[in-house]
Amino acid sequence: MVEFALPKNSRIRTGKTWPKPEGAKNVRKFLIYRWTPDDGQNPRVDTYFVDMDTCGPMVLDALIKIKNEIDPTLTFRRSCREGICGSCAMNIDGGNHLACIYGLDEIKGDVKIYPLPHMDVVRDLVPDLTHFYAQHASIMPWLETKTNAPAKEWRQSIEDRKKLDGLYECVMCASCSASCPSYWWNSERYLGPAALLHAYRWIIDSRDEATGERLDDLEDPFKLYRCHTIMNCAQTCPKGLNPAKAIAEIKKKMVQRTI
Ligand code: SF4
Ligand code: FES
Repeated sequence: MVEFALPKNSRIRTGKTWPKPEGAKNVRKFLIYRWTPDDGQNPRVDTYFVDMDTCGPMVLDALIKIKNEIDPTLTFRRSCREGICGSCAMNIDGGNHLACIYGLDEIKGDVKIYPLPHMDVVRDLVPDLTHFYAQHASIMPWLETKTNAPAKEWRQSIEDRKKLDGLYECVMCASCSASCPSYWWNSERYLGPAALLHAYRWIIDSRDEATGERLDDLEDPFKLYRCHTIMNCAQTCPKGLNPAKAIAEIKKKMVQRTI
Protein backbone atom coordinates (compact mmCIF):
# COMPACT_ATOMS: atom_id res chain seq x y z
CA MET A 1 0.00 0.00 0.00
CA VAL A 2 1.29 3.44 -0.86
CA GLU A 3 1.85 5.65 2.15
CA PHE A 4 1.81 9.40 1.76
CA ALA A 5 3.69 11.68 4.11
CA LEU A 6 2.74 15.32 4.51
CA PRO A 7 5.51 17.82 3.86
CA LYS A 8 7.11 18.91 7.15
CA ASN A 9 5.98 22.49 6.81
CA SER A 10 2.32 21.50 6.38
CA ARG A 11 2.00 20.32 9.96
CA ILE A 12 0.40 22.66 12.44
CA ARG A 13 1.96 22.58 15.90
CA THR A 14 0.36 23.43 19.22
CA GLY A 15 1.21 27.00 20.09
CA LYS A 16 1.21 29.15 23.15
CA THR A 17 -1.62 29.13 25.69
CA TRP A 18 -2.16 32.63 27.05
CA PRO A 19 -3.30 33.04 30.68
CA LYS A 20 -6.99 33.51 31.54
CA PRO A 21 -7.99 37.08 32.40
CA GLU A 22 -7.88 37.53 36.17
CA GLY A 23 -11.22 37.72 37.94
CA ALA A 24 -13.24 37.15 34.75
CA LYS A 25 -16.38 35.08 35.27
CA ASN A 26 -17.58 34.67 31.71
CA VAL A 27 -14.57 33.41 29.76
CA ARG A 28 -14.50 31.99 26.22
CA LYS A 29 -11.68 30.00 24.60
CA PHE A 30 -10.30 31.01 21.19
CA LEU A 31 -8.00 28.79 19.10
CA ILE A 32 -6.32 30.93 16.47
CA TYR A 33 -3.99 30.02 13.59
CA ARG A 34 -0.63 31.79 13.74
CA TRP A 35 2.12 31.85 11.14
CA THR A 36 4.86 34.29 10.46
CA PRO A 37 7.09 34.06 7.38
CA ASP A 38 10.06 35.46 9.33
CA ASP A 39 10.94 32.73 11.83
CA GLY A 40 11.16 29.60 9.64
CA GLN A 41 8.76 27.77 11.98
CA ASN A 42 5.68 25.73 11.08
CA PRO A 43 2.27 27.30 11.68
CA ARG A 44 0.84 26.92 15.16
CA VAL A 45 -2.50 27.35 16.90
CA ASP A 46 -2.44 29.69 19.92
CA THR A 47 -5.04 29.54 22.69
CA TYR A 48 -6.53 32.71 24.14
CA PHE A 49 -9.18 33.29 26.80
CA VAL A 50 -11.43 36.32 26.43
CA ASP A 51 -13.60 37.94 29.09
CA MET A 52 -16.95 38.00 27.31
CA ASP A 53 -18.44 40.46 29.80
CA THR A 54 -16.16 43.14 28.37
CA CYS A 55 -16.20 42.02 24.72
CA GLY A 56 -18.45 43.06 21.84
CA PRO A 57 -20.77 40.53 20.17
CA MET A 58 -18.92 39.84 16.92
CA VAL A 59 -15.90 37.65 16.16
CA LEU A 60 -14.01 40.75 15.05
CA ASP A 61 -14.66 42.37 18.45
CA ALA A 62 -12.92 39.42 20.11
CA LEU A 63 -9.98 39.54 17.70
CA ILE A 64 -9.51 43.26 18.31
CA LYS A 65 -9.73 42.70 22.07
CA ILE A 66 -7.11 39.94 21.88
CA LYS A 67 -4.82 42.19 19.83
CA ASN A 68 -5.32 45.21 22.10
CA GLU A 69 -5.18 43.49 25.48
CA ILE A 70 -3.40 40.15 25.15
CA ASP A 71 -1.20 39.70 22.08
CA PRO A 72 -0.38 42.71 19.85
CA THR A 73 1.39 40.44 17.33
CA LEU A 74 -1.87 38.77 16.20
CA THR A 75 -2.37 39.90 12.61
CA PHE A 76 -5.63 40.18 10.65
CA ARG A 77 -7.25 42.53 8.15
CA ARG A 78 -10.24 44.70 8.92
CA SER A 79 -11.46 48.15 8.10
CA CYS A 80 -15.17 49.04 7.92
CA ARG A 81 -16.46 46.78 10.72
CA GLU A 82 -19.84 46.50 9.01
CA GLY A 83 -19.59 43.99 6.17
CA ILE A 84 -18.81 46.52 3.45
CA CYS A 85 -15.06 46.45 2.79
CA GLY A 86 -14.73 42.65 2.60
CA SER A 87 -11.32 42.65 4.26
CA CYS A 88 -12.05 40.57 7.39
CA ALA A 89 -12.98 37.30 5.62
CA MET A 90 -11.58 34.28 7.44
CA ASN A 91 -12.48 30.70 8.30
CA ILE A 92 -14.46 30.69 11.54
CA ASP A 93 -15.84 27.54 13.09
CA GLY A 94 -15.22 25.67 9.82
CA GLY A 95 -16.90 28.13 7.44
CA ASN A 96 -15.80 31.26 5.60
CA HIS A 97 -17.32 34.40 7.12
CA LEU A 98 -16.80 38.11 7.55
CA ALA A 99 -15.58 38.36 11.16
CA CYS A 100 -17.22 41.76 11.68
CA ILE A 101 -20.76 40.55 10.99
CA TYR A 102 -20.45 37.00 12.33
CA GLY A 103 -21.86 36.80 15.85
CA LEU A 104 -20.05 34.91 18.58
CA ASP A 105 -23.44 33.60 19.67
CA GLU A 106 -23.66 31.67 16.38
CA ILE A 107 -20.72 29.49 17.45
CA LYS A 108 -21.07 26.62 19.87
CA GLY A 109 -18.10 25.79 22.11
CA ASP A 110 -14.55 27.00 21.45
CA VAL A 111 -14.03 29.55 18.69
CA LYS A 112 -11.63 28.24 16.03
CA ILE A 113 -10.27 30.78 13.58
CA TYR A 114 -8.10 30.08 10.53
CA PRO A 115 -7.24 32.07 7.40
CA LEU A 116 -9.33 31.49 4.25
CA PRO A 117 -8.56 27.95 3.07
CA HIS A 118 -6.37 27.11 0.07
CA MET A 119 -4.95 30.61 -0.20
CA ASP A 120 -1.34 31.55 0.38
CA VAL A 121 -0.93 33.25 3.73
CA VAL A 122 0.92 36.53 4.22
CA ARG A 123 0.83 36.20 8.00
CA ASP A 124 -1.57 34.75 10.62
CA LEU A 125 -5.12 35.37 9.35
CA VAL A 126 -4.13 37.48 6.34
CA PRO A 127 -4.51 35.69 2.98
CA ASP A 128 -2.52 36.72 -0.08
CA LEU A 129 -5.18 38.01 -2.48
CA THR A 130 -2.80 39.09 -5.27
CA HIS A 131 -3.92 36.35 -7.65
CA PHE A 132 -7.60 36.76 -6.68
CA TYR A 133 -7.46 40.49 -7.49
CA ALA A 134 -5.60 39.86 -10.76
CA GLN A 135 -8.38 37.48 -11.82
CA HIS A 136 -10.95 40.15 -10.99
CA ALA A 137 -9.01 42.70 -13.07
CA SER A 138 -8.88 40.22 -15.98
CA ILE A 139 -12.66 40.32 -16.51
CA MET A 140 -12.56 44.10 -17.21
CA PRO A 141 -14.60 45.21 -14.19
CA TRP A 142 -15.66 48.49 -15.71
CA LEU A 143 -18.18 49.89 -18.22
CA GLU A 144 -16.71 49.32 -21.69
CA THR A 145 -18.25 51.51 -24.41
CA LYS A 146 -17.51 52.19 -28.07
CA THR A 147 -19.98 54.94 -28.99
CA ASN A 148 -19.20 58.53 -28.08
CA ALA A 149 -19.78 59.38 -24.45
CA PRO A 150 -23.10 61.18 -23.88
CA ALA A 151 -22.98 64.82 -22.76
CA LYS A 152 -24.18 63.99 -19.27
CA GLU A 153 -24.29 60.29 -18.35
CA TRP A 154 -24.86 56.75 -19.61
CA ARG A 155 -28.54 56.25 -18.89
CA GLN A 156 -30.24 53.03 -17.85
CA SER A 157 -33.90 52.11 -17.39
CA ILE A 158 -35.16 51.12 -13.96
CA GLU A 159 -35.81 47.57 -15.27
CA ASP A 160 -32.27 47.21 -16.63
CA ARG A 161 -30.79 48.60 -13.43
CA LYS A 162 -32.73 45.97 -11.48
CA LYS A 163 -30.89 43.22 -13.37
CA LEU A 164 -27.75 44.18 -11.45
CA ASP A 165 -29.34 43.46 -8.06
CA GLY A 166 -27.73 40.45 -6.43
CA LEU A 167 -24.48 41.18 -8.28
CA TYR A 168 -23.28 44.72 -7.52
CA GLU A 169 -23.39 44.07 -3.75
CA CYS A 170 -20.31 41.82 -3.87
CA VAL A 171 -17.59 43.12 -1.53
CA MET A 172 -14.78 40.98 -3.01
CA CYS A 173 -14.14 39.19 0.26
CA ALA A 174 -13.06 35.95 -1.50
CA SER A 175 -15.10 33.76 0.87
CA CYS A 176 -16.85 32.09 -2.07
CA SER A 177 -13.74 31.34 -4.13
CA ALA A 178 -11.94 30.02 -1.03
CA SER A 179 -14.85 27.64 -0.37
CA CYS A 180 -14.93 26.17 -3.88
CA PRO A 181 -13.15 22.80 -4.38
CA SER A 182 -12.88 23.43 -8.10
CA TYR A 183 -11.09 26.73 -7.35
CA TRP A 184 -8.84 25.02 -4.80
CA TRP A 185 -7.53 22.61 -7.45
CA ASN A 186 -7.58 24.89 -10.51
CA SER A 187 -7.21 28.44 -9.28
CA GLU A 188 -4.36 29.12 -11.71
CA ARG A 189 -6.78 28.78 -14.63
CA TYR A 190 -10.34 28.72 -13.29
CA LEU A 191 -11.49 32.28 -12.51
CA GLY A 192 -13.61 31.22 -9.55
CA PRO A 193 -17.06 32.33 -8.38
CA ALA A 194 -16.21 35.91 -7.35
CA ALA A 195 -14.53 36.96 -10.61
CA LEU A 196 -17.26 35.24 -12.65
CA LEU A 197 -20.03 36.94 -10.69
CA HIS A 198 -18.38 40.25 -11.58
CA ALA A 199 -17.99 39.16 -15.20
CA TYR A 200 -21.74 38.51 -15.38
CA ARG A 201 -22.47 41.85 -13.69
CA TRP A 202 -20.85 43.61 -16.68
CA ILE A 203 -22.17 41.19 -19.32
CA ILE A 204 -25.77 42.03 -18.45
CA ASP A 205 -25.24 45.75 -17.91
CA SER A 206 -27.46 47.32 -20.61
CA ARG A 207 -24.98 50.19 -21.05
CA ASP A 208 -21.96 47.97 -21.76
CA GLU A 209 -20.91 47.57 -25.41
CA ALA A 210 -18.36 44.78 -25.09
CA THR A 211 -20.62 41.80 -24.36
CA GLY A 212 -19.25 39.79 -27.30
CA GLU A 213 -15.62 40.29 -26.25
CA ARG A 214 -16.46 39.47 -22.65
CA LEU A 215 -18.08 36.17 -23.67
CA ASP A 216 -15.24 35.38 -26.10
CA ASP A 217 -12.74 35.80 -23.29
CA LEU A 218 -14.64 33.38 -21.04
CA GLU A 219 -15.10 30.72 -23.77
CA ASP A 220 -12.38 28.58 -22.27
CA PRO A 221 -12.36 25.08 -20.77
CA PHE A 222 -10.90 26.36 -17.51
CA LYS A 223 -11.81 30.03 -16.96
CA LEU A 224 -15.57 29.36 -16.89
CA TYR A 225 -16.27 25.67 -17.35
CA ARG A 226 -14.42 24.46 -14.30
CA CYS A 227 -17.53 25.46 -12.33
CA HIS A 228 -19.26 22.17 -11.59
CA THR A 229 -22.20 23.73 -9.72
CA ILE A 230 -20.97 22.50 -6.35
CA MET A 231 -22.80 25.51 -4.83
CA ASN A 232 -20.45 26.09 -1.88
CA CYS A 233 -20.14 29.69 -3.11
CA ALA A 234 -23.84 30.44 -2.71
CA GLN A 235 -23.96 28.70 0.65
CA THR A 236 -20.93 30.63 1.93
CA CYS A 237 -21.39 34.18 0.63
CA PRO A 238 -21.78 36.46 3.67
CA LYS A 239 -23.72 38.95 1.53
CA GLY A 240 -26.30 36.34 0.50
CA LEU A 241 -25.30 36.39 -3.19
CA ASN A 242 -25.41 33.46 -5.59
CA PRO A 243 -22.29 33.33 -7.79
CA ALA A 244 -23.26 29.84 -9.06
CA LYS A 245 -26.43 31.29 -10.59
CA ALA A 246 -24.43 34.07 -12.27
CA ILE A 247 -22.06 31.45 -13.70
CA ALA A 248 -25.01 29.39 -14.98
CA GLU A 249 -26.37 32.53 -16.68
CA ILE A 250 -23.04 33.09 -18.45
CA LYS A 251 -23.07 29.47 -19.66
CA LYS A 252 -26.62 30.00 -20.93
CA LYS A 253 -25.53 33.09 -22.85
CA MET A 254 -22.70 31.07 -24.41
CA VAL A 255 -25.25 28.57 -25.76
CA GLN A 256 -27.77 31.22 -26.84
CA ARG A 257 -25.28 33.01 -29.03
CA THR A 258 -24.58 29.82 -31.01
CA ILE A 259 -28.26 29.29 -31.93
S1 SF4 B 1 -19.84 36.81 -4.08
FE1 SF4 B 1 -20.08 36.96 -1.83
S2 SF4 B 1 -18.49 35.58 -1.01
FE2 SF4 B 1 -17.95 35.99 -3.13
S3 SF4 B 1 -16.51 37.70 -3.03
FE3 SF4 B 1 -18.58 38.55 -3.37
S4 SF4 B 1 -19.36 39.02 -1.32
FE4 SF4 B 1 -17.61 37.65 -1.03
S1 FES C 1 -14.20 44.88 8.45
FE1 FES C 1 -15.07 45.40 6.51
S2 FES C 1 -16.20 43.65 5.95
FE2 FES C 1 -15.47 43.19 7.94
